[in-house]
Amino acid sequence: MVNKNVFITGIAGFIGSHLAELCLSKGRNVIGIDNFNTFYDPKIKRQNLSRFQSNITFYDGDIRDRDLVTKIFRENNIHTVFHLAAMAGVRPSFQNPTLYADVNLNGTNIIFESAVRSGVEKVLFASSSSVYGNAPKVPFAETDDIDHPISIYAATKRANEKQAKVWHELSGIPVAGLRFFTVYGPRQRPEMAIHLFTRALFNHQPITLFGDGKTYRDYTYVDDIIAGILGIESALAGFDIVNLGENRTTTLIDLIRLLEKITGETAILNFEPMQRGDVDRTFASIDHACTNYNYSPQTDMESGLGKFVEWYRATFG
Ligand SMILES: NC(=O)c1ccc[n+]([C@@H]2O[C@H](COP(=O)([O-])OP(=O)(O)OC[C@H]3O[C@@H](n4cnc5c(N)ncnc54)[C@H](O)[C@@H]3O)[C@@H](O)[C@H]2O)c1
Repeated sequence: MVNKNVFITGIAGFIGSHLAELCLSKGRNVIGIDNFNTFYDPKIKRQNLSRFQSNITFYDGDIRDRDLVTKIFRENNIHTVFHLAAMAGVRPSFQNPTLYADVNLNGTNIIFESAVRSGVEKVLFASSSSVYGNAPKVPFAETDDIDHPISIYAATKRANEKQAKVWHELSGIPVAGLRFFTVYGPRQRPEMAIHLFTRALFNHQPITLFGDGKTYRDYTYVDDIIAGILGIESALAGFDIVNLGENRTTTLIDLIRLLEKITGETAILNFEPMQRGDVDRTFASIDHACTNYNYSPQTDMESGLGKFVEWYRATFG
């Protein structure tokens, strides 16, 4: 019988909790770790986890704790590692570069080291669209020359791709780096734009826009991301880097107009200069994922934002 055990790092977070739920629904055994760091309110993460904690094997701890990570691999016959735990977020990475390096680089090495020692079948890890920096050509393709990150966060994610390649070369284990493009949907991190703007709209507070509102992003609905991750897992052989986006873009101002329409509220806008580390645009070429991993994102912005706002109302009243 195929070993279906999956190990998800950062399982109590936004993407990790969605991935855990879909894996459980497919009858897989889920093992997870999270340290409930205070990047945002840990209560939110405990709530995410409480949706399924009784159905998984959970370790409350830090991926930088080598003894704990070794024990997790020893105690569980892990087939696939989904490594999502990280210090996320571009702007805060300038405030605490040492912590970003410690978690994202050292933590990732510890996960790979144990995964390789215990002979897992596959490792998939979260990279980011931010590795493209302000690359001149759009849409961004995996084959582009992209060694110009503009934030500490992006630099750690690009370094993760290099680390991962080394671990793959050493072990022969199939490894994939997943370049997520701004993920949104229920349980999105509270400091991310869509969540922040929705909260401001409902509370009649000003929305601060950095730049002229014309910067744009390729926003990806979380269900599309999770389907993409599992599609890559099943077909993965060798080493790969894969964009997971929607191949559609929305400007910041259009995002706000859409949210106004869906919430029925009117935004109070406050324009500020662009922030250090913020890229002007993201736009994913998804040809590689579609051709090789059957990726087929389904959710347009309007329906995805509708689902997000529905969740927001149900959760916060
Ligand atoms: N959300 C996005 O739009 C997006 C885009 C690109 C890349 N990513 C990447 O995807 C991954 C998941 O992102 P998310 O939005 O779900 O973030 P999240 O912050 O909601 O989830 C990350 C989880 O990892 C945990 N964690 C952090 N450091 C840890 C440590 N040292 N030990 C154990 N657990 C730790 C956190 O407590 C959190 O629950 C991250 O690697 C992030 O960089 C996310």
